[in-house]
Parts: sequence; C-alpha cells; structure tokens
Amino acid sequence: MEAARDFDFTDRHFDNFRKMVSEHTGIALSDAKRELVYGRLTRRLRKLSLDNFDDYTNYILENSEDELSNFINAVTTNLTSFFREDHHFRYLADKLIPELLHRNRASRRIRVWSAGCSTGEEPYSIAITLRESIPDIDNWDVRILATDIDTNVISKGENGIYDEERITGLSSGRIKQWFFKGSNKQAGKVRVKPELQQMITFKQLNLMTEWPMKGLFDILFCRNVVIYFDKPTQKVLFERFTGQLTEDAHMFIGHSETLYNVSERFQLLGKTIYRRIR
Ligand SMILES: C[S@@+](CC[C@H](N)C(=O)[O-])C[C@H]1O[C@@H](n2cnc3c(N)ncnc32)[C@H](O)[C@@H]1O
Repeated sequence: MEAARDFDFTDRHFDNFRKMVSEHTGIALSDAKRELVYGRLTRRLRKLSLDNFDDYTNYILENSEDELSNFINAVTTNLTSFFREDHHFRYLADKLIPELLHRNRASRRIRVWSAGCSTGEEPYSIAITLRESIPDIDNWDVRILATDIDTNVISKGENGIYDEERITGLSSGRIKQWFFKGSNKQAGKVRVKPELQQMITFKQLNLMTEWPMKGLFDILFCRNVVIYFDKPTQKVLFERFTGQLTEDAHMFIGHSETLYNVSERFQLLGKTIYRRIR
C-alpha cells in the first residue's frame, strides 16, 4: 500500500524530474528512487511555499539559474567516508606514490583529481596518504582538485568540519596528527588540519559539462559516481577522462563499478585500479 502523501506525485511528475536530472547530471534515476525523490523535493516545495509539483516544475523552469542547483543538490546521493575502500589508499602509499616520486623527480609535481568528491572525506584521505608517504612533501608541488556537482557538499568539504563519529575508524595516531578536536560549542566535531586543507582546491563542477582545467592529472579518483550513469554516458565520460590524464596516469573507480564494455583505454592493475594505456 502506498503511504499517504501530502502532495500528489504522479508517474508524469516522476518521469519529468527523471528527465531533467538525466539531462543535467547524467544520473539515471531508477524506479526505486521514486520515494527518495518525492521526499527530498517535498522539502523544496515546503521551503518555497508551493502547493504542488506542477508549480514546482514551472518554478524550476522560470528560476532555473537558482533553483536548478537546489533541485540537483536534492537528488544527488552523497554517501562517502574517510578511507573508504581502504585498499586504494594502501596502493597509493605502497606502489603509486613511490613510482610517481621517481617518474616526476624532475618536475617535483603531482596532480590529483577527486571527481565526485562529495563532502570531502575522499580528497582529505588522499591528502593524508600523500603527506604520510612523502616525507619532504613541502619541497614538492602537490595539489588535489576536488570537484562535485553538488554545491552543498563542496562547501562542507571546504569547511573541513565533521562529526567526530566520522573518524572513529581511523587510528588514534592519524586522528591526533590530522584533526583538531572541537571543544565548547564545537564539542563532538573535528576539523582537518590546515596543512591538509592547503593542498586541496574544492570546486563545483558538473562532469557532464565542459571542464575548465588546463593541466593533466597523474591520479584520478572517480569512485561511486558513474554507477548512477547509464553505459553510453559512462563511455563518453571515460573517453573524456583520458584527455585529462598524463601518459601513465592511474585511476581508481568504485567497488561496484567496472570499465568492462565501457572503455578500453585503461589497463586493469588491481581491484578497481587502472592505468591509462599510452
Ligand atoms: C556516492 S558519492 C561518492 C563520493 C566519493 N567519491 C566516494 O566514493 O566516497 C557520488 C558523488 O557524485 C556526485 N555527482 C553525481 N553526478 C555528478 C556529475 N554529473 N558531476 C559531478 N559530480 C556528480 C554527487 O553529487 C555525489 O556527491
């Protein structure tokens, strides 16, 4: 039985929103996401004091500059955590960073892109791994670009303040070294240390639109992002990624993602770890 609803939400409304989401973000919303979309968009209706979903659709069309980003923020899935899929960070520390320190010894430059970075736990985990594995990192030019379509998660990442529970899985040594514990009003919160924040640039970027970056990246993390895209969209995206990567760049994708039947431009090195084929 369907739950009683405050607002009428028909197939037509859902299909309409689904189409808009797919056109703007590449995200293909399945039928299973119907309740989630209803719940999240209902909050927008209430906030805007609108009476029904037809009015909300018109509102987006008339105020697309402002409302489109709220609409997109409402339908993205931002699940993430520090050191999620820990084996990627171990590979980074044990294999990839030593390789890059040798390969890039002349330029002393390393560029990393965390595409679909959500609230920042992924780029901060990368920053921690880089700092822990490169003893003379201050003599290197190391930058992490962290991008996401969702403007809310980008500001959260930039702030670098998290609930303490978010870091309970980390060793006490890591917590002590890389986080400040909040007190008084900030009790129960932690803040990442400035030496991590300084390495990262957070930027709103839709992977479906043009990318402004000029330089090439040595490492790309695009994890648990393309799982929401259909295959043709994934194919185009991975083709575009190759143009943004150095010759031997490495790429990490999410645990339930694969390049099988999507791209032949990358060689599989380990579980969800790839190297760009020259
Ligand atoms: C599930 S999170 C993954 C976060 C992190 N990479 C991880 O694996 O923990 C997926 C992120 O992709 C972002 N995203 C979805 N479509 C996007 C698009 N077209 N362009 C950029 N980011 C997008 C979402 O906003 C969301 O924050």
